[in-house]
Amino acid sequence: MSRFWKPGTEKPRLLDDEEGGVLFFGASPSTSSGYGYSSMERQKQRLPVYKYRTPILYLVETHATTIIVGETGSGKTTQIPQYLKEAGWADGGRVIACTQPRRLAVQAVSSRVAEEMGVKLGEEVGYTIRFEDLTKDGVTMIKFLTDGVLLREMMDDPLLTKYSVIMVDEAHERSISTDILLGLLKKIQRRRPELRLIISSATIEAKSMSSFFQTSKRRREMEGKDLGPRMDPVILSVEGRGFNVQIHYVEEPVSNYIQAAVSTVLLVHDQEPMGDILVFLTGQDDIDAAVQLLTEEVQNRGKSCSGLTILPLYSGLPRAEQELVFAPTARGKRKVVISTNIAETSLTLEGIVYVVDSGFSKQRFYNPISDIENLVVAPISKASARQRAGRAGRVRPGKCYRLYTEEYFVDEMSAEGIPEIQRSNLVSCVIQLKALGIDNILGFDWPASPPPEAMVRALEVLYSLGVLDNDAKLTSPAGFQVAEIPLDPMIAKMILSSSQLGCSEEIITIAAILSIQSIWVSSRGAQKDLDEVKLRFAASEGDHVTFLNVYKGFLQSGKSSQWCYKNFVNYHAMKKVLEIREQLRRTAQRIGIVLKSCEGDMLVVRNAITAGFFANACHLEAYSHNGKYKTIRGSQEVYIHPSSVLFRVNPKWVIYHSLVSTDKQYMRNVISIDPSSLTDAAPHFYQHQRPSSMLH
Ligand code: CDP
Ligand code: MG
Repeated sequence: MSRFWKPGTEKPRLLDDEEGGVLFFGASPSTSSGYGYSSMERQKQRLPVYKYRTPILYLVETHATTIIVGETGSGKTTQIPQYLKEAGWADGGRVIACTQPRRLAVQAVSSRVAEEMGVKLGEEVGYTIRFEDLTKDGVTMIKFLTDGVLLREMMDDPLLTKYSVIMVDEAHERSISTDILLGLLKKIQRRRPELRLIISSATIEAKSMSSFFQTSKRRREMEGKDLGPRMDPVILSVEGRGFNVQIHYVEEPVSNYIQAAVSTVLLVHDQEPMGDILVFLTGQDDIDAAVQLLTEEVQNRGKSCSGLTILPLYSGLPRAEQELVFAPTARGKRKVVISTNIAETSLTLEGIVYVVDSGFSKQRFYNPISDIENLVVAPISKASARQRAGRAGRVRPGKCYRLYTEEYFVDEMSAEGIPEIQRSNLVSCVIQLKALGIDNILGFDWPASPPPEAMVRALEVLYSLGVLDNDAKLTSPAGFQVAEIPLDPMIAKMILSSSQLGCSEEIITIAAILSIQSIWVSSRGAQKDLDEVKLRFAASEGDHVTFLNVYKGFLQSGKSSQWCYKNFVNYHAMKKVLEIREQLRRTAQRIGIVLKSCEGDMLVVRNAITAGFFANACHLEAYSHNGKYKTIRGSQEVYIHPSSVLFRVNPKWVIYHSLVSTDKQYMRNVISIDPSSLTDAAPHFYQHQRPSSMLH
């Protein structure tokens, strides 16, 4: 019955079966001589995973769940879906899915696979991320998608019937959507034993995954004999061929890791033989700062620093710039890629020999007591540090420069990161599960349980948004409508309310702009110029209305790129806004939202924002001269972010869209409100704990 089994091929050798259901397979000897293959084909055959092609296909054939562990760059993501296709798993109109936690990885990997297969991206190989679908029904056989998009697909097709194999990739990242997905896939498997799961991971956390997918003894007994695949999971470890990486630590802790990273890059460039450098920083802001600093240094040094190409890498980077990062380095040149942790395991860059590791990444943290979630620059785990170092040993022995001390690594770094679900606001997660008919969320089979307090908070917020009723079931129609909109429930609620308030056109524009990182050009010229230009659009109400002014200006200019350039507006971002806006309008129409403009009545726009974001209301501390606000819910100290048009204006009452935390907690995208609109928008939310400041 094996689809791929050709006469004469050897069965994989069994190395160890002592682990009770955990099998380790060694590689069967590679039989191909490589003769007559194109160089792409030869390149594919050199990847470590190639030697495991037969065992992988054998295990997928015979087991419902296969867990594959292998070093980054061994070929898991790009090769396994192709093997599956070759073995017939995409025959008969079925589709092979491969999920990624990150959008940029979805795009990069799918275009690589399309190239390897010699097909046009969007045909046999396609991808889907939020607001962008490059697949063709009946044509696409291998589909890359974010884990979040696959969760959404379950709302229309709860058993994911069109997929024959689902590969949940980068499982070690334990993103919130990956965890929810794993829980749901386990359920689906009971109803669809023919569905195959592959869980792939760069670290050996595989045992816990394996026990998660372990079926009960009773169920195994009921399975009978050989009617289908074995339900117990199996682990395959792909041995990589990484080279040695020499680790260097700093002797004293560094106070400024951006500066330290830049100096280290220059030192490597001065003293080390050719080979590209990969620097791990945390996010767009510090990456832009480092790129600028390094560029200046290089210019100052003139000739001694020639041959250095500096490239940033973060999600939200325009397509053309992404391609530069992946392009091979020219002879006699050295590439420096300054990246977020996206290059830790999701993407492989060829030619890296030196790694500079800041020891930090941006991580989401949620405090259910204060009900505050923000992105914080936080220390990475030992597991991450090892992954980062490993990036230096892909092509030859490499070096990793850690910008922290050895004692710190040994004594203070935690061994593993905490799964995202245990440090996130669960509002989106809860509504998605509810929409899929999972009512008992606390009793859901989680790979790692979320904290009950966070769950309670989420239920509370959803209840006050009018999305859940007294029995914690989705309300009809509001709850179902909110669940249909592929955005955070607070934004979705804002859109829903705009329908009643008659300002849906404006609110959809705002929602589209809020869903991209920034519409401003960040790195060009001085901050002061940008601030001055912003004043042209600044609205006294705040950032959301300012966005509407920018959007209006853009339309009036005939969507001109020159207009964008003159106004420090990011043209690509605005094009994306137009696309997202169009998709949101379509979704809105489908769920019965009336599309209407309020023709400049900003009061209704503010009321719609309040209807969604009342939980983020803050009040300026009386007598505060430094712009200190307190959140109404948790009495947390917060400040308006300098990028906001309300920075230094400090209205008495504001609502923020998100928080970022650096030296203080900053509110990004802020609008001033009238406090009475809060109690109108969410009477139950503010009823119990009306703070004294509400009475002012
Ligand atoms: O998933 P895993 O980390 O095991 O490896 P992969 O992403 O499948 O990468 C396998 C190989 O493909 C690596 O040697 C990469 O350099 C190459 N690749 C590439 O050249 N360009 C891409 N966009 C993706 C992968
Ligand atoms: Mg991969």
